Amino acid sequence: MCGIIAYKGPKNGVEIVLNGLKKLEYRGYDSWGIAVNGKSIQVVKKVGRIGSVSLNDLGLKPSHIAMGHTRWATHGGVTEANAHPHLSNDGKIAVVHNGIVENYQELRDFLIKNGFKFKSQTDTEVIPNFIQYCMRSMDFEEAVRCALLKLEGSFAVVVMHESTLVGARRNSPLVAGINCDEIFLASDVPAFLEYTNKVIYIEDGEMVVSNKGIEFSEIKTGKIVKKQPMEIKWTVEQAMKGNYPHFMLKEINEQGITIKKAVEQDSMLLERATKKLKSAQGIFFVACGTSYHACVSAGYEFAEIAKRHVNLVVASEFRNYADFITDKTLVIAVSQSGETADVLDAVSAAKEKGAEVIAITNVMGSSLMRAASETIMMNSGPEICVLSTKTYTAQLAILLLLAYSVAGRLEEGKKLIAKAASHVTSVINENESVLKDISSRFKNSHDLFLIGRDLAYPSALEGALKIKEVSYIHAEGFAGAELKHGTIALIEKNVPVIVLVTEKTKRLILGNAAEIKLRGGCIIGINEKNNELYDYFVRVPGLGDADPIIMIIPMQMLAYHLALARGCDPDKPRNLAKSVTVK
Ligand code: M6R
Repeated sequence: MCGIIAYKGPKNGVEIVLNGLKKLEYRGYDSWGIAVNGKSIQVVKKVGRIGSVSLNDLGLKPSHIAMGHTRWATHGGVTEANAHPHLSNDGKIAVVHNGIVENYQELRDFLIKNGFKFKSQTDTEVIPNFIQYCMRSMDFEEAVRCALLKLEGSFAVVVMHESTLVGARRNSPLVAGINCDEIFLASDVPAFLEYTNKVIYIEDGEMVVSNKGIEFSEIKTGKIVKKQPMEIKWTVEQAMKGNYPHFMLKEINEQGITIKKAVEQDSMLLERATKKLKSAQGIFFVACGTSYHACVSAGYEFAEIAKRHVNLVVASEFRNYADFITDKTLVIAVSQSGETADVLDAVSAAKEKGAEVIAITNVMGSSLMRAASETIMMNSGPEICVLSTKTYTAQLAILLLLAYSVAGRLEEGKKLIAKAASHVTSVINENESVLKDISSRFKNSHDLFLIGRDLAYPSALEGALKIKEVSYIHAEGFAGAELKHGTIALIEKNVPVIVLVTEKTKRLILGNAAEIKLRGGCIIGINEKNNELYDYFVRVPGLGDADPIIMIIPMQMLAYHLALARGCDPDKPRNLAKSVTVK
């Protein structure tokens, strides 16, 4: 995943693109570049993070048209030459690209035979050069269309030539922002949110040309598509760190609000979703990573509260179940970004079989939203940190609400979720000091284990993922009884084990904790009440069905403090990007 931002309008595009790139850094941060068009195209590219680079550092002249890119390398190593924007051989066309050109080798060979030279190892560089090649026999706009039709794979691209910007997408995100005579094209709304909240979503297979105003068309046919801007509700403050040192900490702290917002849903939409959940012959929950863990939690809740069996499938494995999907199947696809390639593929597979798809997502206008017949928005505001925190609890809250709704107990569900939200701040404050102690003691541990039963099991999985992602300590979550089927061999003196205890599971899980303690493991109990088995006690209130919502908060905080104790940047974990747009 990479970040794209481009601007055309009366202001200084260099400044707008620089600001936008800083907001998009969560999408990729191994190198960056900016191109502006004056008498000719000027480009600045650098390896590393854009971080504190200032306008003066760039040495670029102010320009009314500019584009930038923050890269997460896929084809070609992390070098200045491979950073975007890429120019055509004649230097007149600049391109930024997110996605993968699968047939780039073939196109590159063709262009080389036609006299073109390449300066990078990227797949992207074929795009400006193919456009230049096409311009031998057609105008710029048609040449872009012609080049795009040649590309296999996924792309979000912006092309700059003279005073024109062209944007296009196929299976990679790109949105347009407009404000009077200003046009923005970006991978994500926060990139231009401080300038406009009027957004036009570009569909897959569409392109947008900023020439006289802004014009959308189908790439394939050239047919003009009329579109209306939407005003989005995210605020600039939501996309800023405010007084917090990191987005991760800010977003953890926001959960007292975001959990409540997640369940502020249109009652008709909930009713429709409930009806579909009741009448479906086969329900599948599909998602990846953290979103999948929310589904695992929901699996228990649907069984217990709604008395419905749901199939939980990691999105990338969903096609293996294709034989069991019919036009009576309901697929609930959960994705913060709504752009995860594996989730989108699962949704396509479901739709091929005629199944209905309900999306749960945080990003308005995302590909998932457009593919689904109904969408329940998470209402979390932009989640900038690469790690999902507030959107996880939003997913948990929505799925729990649906389970209560199917059981005919919607109001009870809403009250319980509101109660969970009201405990977030106190859970953070009361436990901060013990979590810091735990982090400083175990910051050099090789392994950390988490165990939980029933609803605490998915919380153990998610807690482990958070710790791995941000602190790089090997962490693994288990169902309490599973540990003794092998992994207990790894428990020795001082190995930290987080034991997640709920009222319902306490007898058995404490038995499992005792086995670990006997082998020298250090027990960190997350529970309503302290216990003599615990070496460290992290208090969370017992909330029954809403336990997963509150239990994850101290683990998010622990992951954060472990990252700090190990000198890691919590907002930008290595090797990770916010949404995974490749299969
Ligand atoms: O945007 P999605 O919810 O579809 O993303 C799915 C996973 O890639 C994501 O949850 C990932 O596991 C995060 N890094 C979790 O912190």
